[in-house]
Amino acid sequence: MAIGIFDSGVGGLTVLKEIRKVLPNEKIYYLGDTARVPYGEKTKELIIRYSKQITEFLLEKNTDVIVVACNTATSLALEELNRTFKIPIIGVVDAGVKTALDTTKNSKIGVIGTKATIHSKKYEIEIKKRNSKMEVYSKPCPLFVPVIEEGIVEGEIVNQLVKMYLDEFEGKIDSLILGCTHYPLLKSTIKNIYPDIEIVDPAKETATDLKKILISKNLMKNDGEKGFETKYYVTDGQEKFRKIGTMFLNEKINCVELVKL
Ligand code: DGL
Repeated sequence: MAIGIFDSGVGGLTVLKEIRKVLPNEKIYYLGDTARVPYGEKTKELIIRYSKQITEFLLEKNTDVIVVACNTATSLALEELNRTFKIPIIGVVDAGVKTALDTTKNSKIGVIGTKATIHSKKYEIEIKKRNSKMEVYSKPCPLFVPVIEEGIVEGEIVNQLVKMYLDEFEGKIDSLILGCTHYPLLKSTIKNIYPDIEIVDPAKETATDLKKILISKNLMKNDGEKGFETKYYVTDGQEKFRKIGTMFLNEKINCVELVKL
């Protein structure tokens, strides 16, 4: 039994971190599609094709459940993955929606993400499905991912970028969904600039959802052998992934394997 997790790059590590907190004894395989990041600029067809290839790769590792730790792939490919594959596959959007609805007090929710995620309107649709009275303000923030992938998560450049994208939310929303798994790295900058806005990171709730699925399907095995290390795979740039990934996880990543999909 193992859990497969994937993202276009290092972003999904923010989800992996939360999953490991609630499921410390399960085996985890993580794939970052670093050769093809960013997904946020790609078409639905491509994102579906990449997501299927990765799912097939993770299935070869005998994973029984997969977490799409990427909002872009969740928004554009999750339905198709669930139509194609038999094992449980969950994304991050549902968790973000649930958490935001529990958090907001003024019924005005902001969503930031990649162009593909925001243009898909996935968050808006799912929020309104659950509560039609909610007002949703969405904004793509395409410059965040390349900056974070370079390991730049604070300082003047980041402050300016955050203000450029988020100033328009001020005074309107009271909760902001980080609709991209890279963005939690900007949490403290965003909080410093907009202390009155509650930041919603779907990662925690995703981990809780995953645990519920494992329990309900009797898949929890607790068989990650003592010292079993999460296995990391990338499609390009092992060294860079190791370096930036270590920053994301706050712990050393020792071994990253290069794979061809
Ligand atoms: N981390 C991914 C997400 O959650 C997207 C980054 C990208 O554009 O590839 O949407």
